[in-house]
Amino acid sequence: MRAADIQADLDRVLVTEEELQARLAELAAEVNRDYAGKDILLVGVLKGAIMVMADFARHLTIDAPMDWMAVSSYGASTKSSGVVQIRKDLDTPLDGKHVLVVEDIIDSGLTLHWLLEHFATRGAASIEVLTALRKPDAMKVEIDAKYVGFDIPSDFVVGYGLDYAEGYRGLRDVAVLAPHVYS
Ligand code: XMP
Ligand code: MG
Repeated sequence: MRAADIQADLDRVLVTEEELQARLAELAAEVNRDYAGKDILLVGVLKGAIMVMADFARHLTIDAPMDWMAVSSYGASTKSSGVVQIRKDLDTPLDGKHVLVVEDIIDSGLTLHWLLEHFATRGAASIEVLTALRKPDAMKVEIDAKYVGFDIPSDFVVGYGLDYAEGYRGLRDVAVLAPHVYS
């Protein structure tokens, strides 16, 4: 059953819409400088990264093409297994491109770790990562993300593209889901 009121399903807001926008504007300013004159390609990972991509790309002043990938990890449903299957591949060849992977969240880091190794074999000139959120205490592999929005605790979060059972993606803030929702 879908809740009638999203707010009643939330424990607390971790990052507000305003904080997200301000931080993405700062990161975009860095990316404008770092990628000036370079052949950049933004790669979004569906579906969680849609909001970050939409907002981040609109803060950029350099022209940055976008491409999308959809992946799924095998194994238990809520935890990443690190074994990844490509469900939708990129439309763009990576040869010579300066790839900036745009992510919603780095949790265990296993999915992104696999993706970065995979991209490394496809001839990109460089590969960096921008993520709106990161859970430092949950990371199982080291991911060297150059552009990080916010470090957050290891709680399961929803909103701003992040879902629980495909719900809550449209929530403007990032919030911790109340335990009664999944128990
Ligand atoms: P990791 O880094 O563990 O994460 O491989 C893989 C993907 O899982 C999603 N994810 C979350 N989704 N709340 C969500 O709604 C969370 O707290 C959360 N943690 C991970 C996300 O799509 C990430 O890219
Ligand atoms: Mg994701």
